[in-house]
Amino acid sequence: MTIAKDTKAIQSQIIEAFNFRHATKVFDPKRKISDDQFNTILEAARLSPTSFGFEPFQMLIIQSPQKRELFRDFAWGANGAFNGSAGQLGTASHFVIFLAHTDVNMKHNSEYQQKFMKEVKQLPDDVIGFINQAFQKFQEQDFNIDGARQITDWAGKQAYIALGNTMSVAAQIGIDSCPIEGFEMDKTSQVLEEHFGIDPKVYQPAVMAAFGYRADEPQFDKTRRTMEQMVSWF
Ligand SMILES: Cc1cc2nc3c(=O)[nH]c(=O)nc-3n(C[C@H](O)[C@H](O)[C@H](O)COP(=O)(O)O)c2cc1C
Repeated sequence: MTIAKDTKAIQSQIIEAFNFRHATKVFDPKRKISDDQFNTILEAARLSPTSFGFEPFQMLIIQSPQKRELFRDFAWGANGAFNGSAGQLGTASHFVIFLAHTDVNMKHNSEYQQKFMKEVKQLPDDVIGFINQAFQKFQEQDFNIDGARQITDWAGKQAYIALGNTMSVAAQIGIDSCPIEGFEMDKTSQVLEEHFGIDPKVYQPAVMAAFGYRADEPQFDKTRRTMEQMVSWF
């Protein structure tokens, strides 16, 4: 790829996109994101970095209105309860549920990881052996995250990196989005098992995201702490 020498124009486009992005509460239900643009958003997720490169998340794209309704009762951050609308569930062009892989797949030395390193990463056996050891140390000692819940949370963290990238990329091509944690985990997991065939032992919901085009301009101006309040230099 060619790296632009003068990045000023790109820098201002990026900042403009980050100011454009806001947590969109209601989308224009008539406007759909093109397949081509949505694929770019998905590529941003797929190409995102993950710890040890294990890609421990899945994305479900829920386009059937009937299937989206299955989440309405307990997805309080996406059902419009706060503004009397159909919410992100009822208005978004695309609605995504990120799943985190549980310890079944992500505990060190798991069968899934062996297959993944061989088939996806195409690593030779000696390198796989080395990574198994390093990953075991990482889970048991370095980060001390050997429990089932901790491993799922770690996998969820990786999903959030992809989530961030999807929203940033969307904003750069004029597409609105909303990250969504406003849902009941247990009920979401139950619906995913009953209606989507997702085994809760292997996958747990991490976070949701809606994409589309805003119905209205944001109600509030963006507020943030100052750079000095957030960043310390040493
Ligand atoms: C992980 C995460 C979960 C969120 N969950 C919800 C949600 O369920 N519903 C919602 O309307 N907004 C949700 N938000 C949006 C935040 O409230 C919003 O990003 C924050 O107030 C800053 O506003 P801005 O994104 O418009 O700049 C979530 C944001 C993040 C990062």
